[in-house]
Amino acid sequence: MRPWNTFVEGDNLDVLPRLAPAYGPFDVVYLDPPYNTGNPFAYADKVDGPRADRHRVWAAMMRPRLEAVRAVMSERGAVFVSIDDNEAARLRLLMDEVYGEKGFVAQVVVNLNPKGRQLGRGFATSHEYLLVYARSPAHCALDASSPSLVDPRDFPLTSDDGRRHRRLPLRNTNKKFNPVTAPTMHFAVYGDPESGRVSTAPFAGSVEIKPVFGDGAPAVWRWSAAKIDAQPDDLVCRWVGTGERRRADVFQRDWLHEGRRKKLRTIWLAGEIGSTDTAVMELKALIGHLFESPKPTGLLRRILETMPGDARVLDPFAGSGTTGHAVALQNAADGGRRTCVSVNLPEPVRPGSNADLAGLARVSDVTRARLKAVADVVGGGFEELTLDS
Ligand SMILES: C[S@@+](CC[C@H](N)C(=O)[O-])C[C@H]1O[C@@H](n2cnc3c(N)ncnc32)[C@H](O)[C@@H]1O
Repeated sequence: MRPWNTFVEGDNLDVLPRLAPAYGPFDVVYLDPPYNTGNPFAYADKVDGPRADRHRVWAAMMRPRLEAVRAVMSERGAVFVSIDDNEAARLRLLMDEVYGEKGFVAQVVVNLNPKGRQLGRGFATSHEYLLVYARSPAHCALDASSPSLVDPRDFPLTSDDGRRHRRLPLRNTNKKFNPVTAPTMHFAVYGDPESGRVSTAPFAGSVEIKPVFGDGAPAVWRWSAAKIDAQPDDLVCRWVGTGERRRADVFQRDWLHEGRRKKLRTIWLAGEIGSTDTAVMELKALIGHLFESPKPTGLLRRILETMPGDARVLDPFAGSGTTGHAVALQNAADGGRRTCVSVNLPEPVRPGSNADLAGLARVSDVTRARLKAVADVVGGGFEELTLDS
């Protein structure tokens, strides 16, 4: 059996095609490329001449890498790319070209710096983006929901048999749906607000109930008559309103069942997934503060939760190895069988940086050190793969 974490040192453009036959195809690819903030990035000089404009150089570095990633992805796969305002617009267009506009799933706002950047003029930027694309939209396994977001406090009621639930109106509250646009969903049901019983046929003690909006205008139900008759225990009749406005209405009993998932919004808050500050603390606790701006494992775990628990994961710009760390944490938490391949260039660390002072010569030394520590502390094993040149 493969270890949870595999590391390959090298340029992802060389590594990916050679990796794929044995380790691919990949279901989840997370890319956190250089953001082109003005600092030179590896291999820029190879791509274009000195007078080239920096956006074009960045795009020329990214395009073949995005294509190489797509070539090693599975049909059910999804790719997640972190980016900030420097290249968000260009990356979106590049992704449209490489993955197709139809592959677009979401542009998530990720609140990684909740205090906001205080330096410079203008707004205190507190977010960046995560672009999400499907390799093949019709076959993509992505489920944009999370089990960890369900809050039991949203299900305050308990049924006689002890099951937690909440009441949702059976009436469709969306005004787009009314007896004109959905005539088959406007019909009478019968309910007894004392016993709670609901049926599509009258019974002793029942009153006739038609769906109405708050202002009394006719509305429609969300369930067909056949569904109401098939699931009477999932419905309850209750009195609503007081005095002259009191009337009987019908509610769905929405159960808090095991494994229930909640739809993910497109703004991910630091309070939910962590921030750059908490990411530094995670790294510090494991191997020391040896990388400038790691991502929080919470961001990666949320990504992993949207894809199957046996996903093959790839991070071609691994940096401090956050993705491999998150894969191990998630497997340990939910019993998943994910495996992760992390790739990083043997790029020299910045002179005077914490990694330099700690005696690590290359960024890949940081990746390796963290993934080894993850295997020791969280488990799942670690292997380093050396590709023949
Ligand atoms: C923004 S960092 C990634 C940070 C990472 N997500 C984390 O949480 O630590 C980008 C990384 O990509 C690496 N890199 C840049 N170009 C690369 C390439 N062509 N192949 C492999 N790695 C590359 C850099 O050395 C750097 O570590």
